[in-house]
Amino acid sequence: MIQKSTILQNLSNCIEDTSFLNIPGMKKGKVRDTYDLGDKLMLITTDRQSAFDRVLACIPFKGQVLNQVSAFWFENTRHIVENHLIATPDPNITIAKKCSVFPIEFVVRGYLTGSTSTSAWTLYSNGERTICGNSMPDGMVKNQKFEKPILTPTTKSDLHDESISVEEILSRKLIDESTWKKLESIVFALFEFGTQTAAKNGLILVDTKYELGLDAQGNILLIDEIHTPDSSRYWLSSSYRERFEQNMEPENIDKEFLRLWFRDHCDPYKDAVLPKAPDDLIAELSSRYIKLYEMITGLQFSTDTSSSIRERMLDNLSNAGYLK
Ligand SMILES: Nc1ncnc2c1ncn2[C@@H]1O[C@H](COP(=O)(O)OP(=O)(O)O)[C@@H](O)[C@H]1O
Ligand SMILES: [Mg+2]
Repeated sequence: MIQKSTILQNLSNCIEDTSFLNIPGMKKGKVRDTYDLGDKLMLITTDRQSAFDRVLACIPFKGQVLNQVSAFWFENTRHIVENHLIATPDPNITIAKKCSVFPIEFVVRGYLTGSTSTSAWTLYSNGERTICGNSMPDGMVKNQKFEKPILTPTTKSDLHDESISVEEILSRKLIDESTWKKLESIVFALFEFGTQTAAKNGLILVDTKYELGLDAQGNILLIDEIHTPDSSRYWLSSSYRERFEQNMEPENIDKEFLRLWFRDHCDPYKDAVLPKAPDDLIAELSSRYIKLYEMITGLQFSTDTSSSIRERMLDNLSNAGYLK
């Protein structure tokens, strides 16, 4: 585990934006900067922490954590499905095979939970008993495990993702039926493997989102990211049962506190400039991401802070031939 003092010394050693690389054709996502390299993509995971549709802060080492968690799962799930990962020339960077992306996000849920208006628990508690074609028995309570994980697909859209049923995916010909069957069995197998691996490390993989695509030869590949703290919910196994029986929320390695701090100190939807979050909060969030990395992978997090991360990225990309 990296020392809190190391994190505090690196508060400004963050990657907020990768335009310093001077590589043309960047597409900026909430957290990643993506570069189109022709038949490949370069996905750079930055340290941005986003919420309320904006960047709240930069969290040291967060980009490395997310990129390396994804790489860990990509390496360890090849027996289930091939994936887009070609190389990781830098701890924050993935070079991937560019695919044509299925227009669906494959959300798999092991538990009845959530608090947003579209979450499974909110729908269920409002009386809904069918979610994306999955029927649910009466009498379930919040945070209860489903008998079997369920797939609740959403459409991929730039505005907001909408739930969609399998019938509609097939009738709108978004995916053909035989391909759908394959994709469905792949995502359940991935979720099963993720669940078992997480359990060995004291974690419950609660729910997650997968994206898949086709490579130039027509092979199905897992793309984007897999089982990262940004695309998945994890709870601590050790206290789940006891807390569930006492109607308490499960424990997680909580990242919500930074969002709450902003909500309490400004109007994050309206204010043009946000206040700066206290160093301690930023460092705390960083150490929680690192802790998540170590629990998920069972590996020790290590990073070289002898030069700046910018310098390191430039060196690594130049050595791997990605800079002109
Ligand atoms: N191997 C791949 N081939 C083609 N597109 C990909 C691949 N991996 C990821 N993508 C796409 O790249 C985009 C990455 O955007 P992302 O950084 O996640 O932005 P956002 O914040 O909007 O989610 C997503 O639309 C994802 O579907
Ligand atoms: Mg995304």
